[in-house]
Amino acid sequence: MVVRRPIDPIARFMQEHDVTLMHLSSLNRATRALVEHGYSRETALRVRDAVGFLADEVEVHNRHEEEALFPVLERYVEGPTDVMREEHRALKRELKKLRGAVKKLGAGRPRAATLKAVRTHAQTVIQKFVNHIHKENNILFPLVQKFLTRDALREIARRLV
Ligand SMILES: [Fe+2]
Ligand SMILES: [Fe+2]
Repeated sequence: MVVRRPIDPIARFMQEHDVTLMHLSSLNRATRALVEHGYSRETALRVRDAVGFLADEVEVHNRHEEEALFPVLERYVEGPTDVMREEHRALKRELKKLRGAVKKLGAGRPRAATLKAVRTHAQTVIQKFVNHIHKENNILFPLVQKFLTRDALREIARRLV
């Protein structure tokens, strides 16, 4: 029996989602610690690391989805990808607000209001991101796996290189 390796760009997107979820979880713990236990350089560093990852890596991930995956899926159905594109834009806006708040952690001991603002913006980003990933993993990707031919999946994989 010949075992054919599945051509699965979806597996790659899901793997990237898992890594993103880890960073979201770290952001959640670190920003909660800022509010509950006060400022520390180490906690602020953890927040910056997570936010840096979300801003850079996820930017690339979302662009890959928009340029490689969505156009192929849109040959079959348009509604779901419109929603995902809009959510990418909303996430970008929220991340920008979070980065602005994190910048104010800067030098010296930040005020309680600054820590609270970081926590609030982080919670919005986390909630929107987890929701977005959940929709892609459980609605969008199963749709892709159901409707797309092997050739279409191969095309997506090619566009990802
Ligand atoms: Fe997405
Ligand atoms: Fe995604």
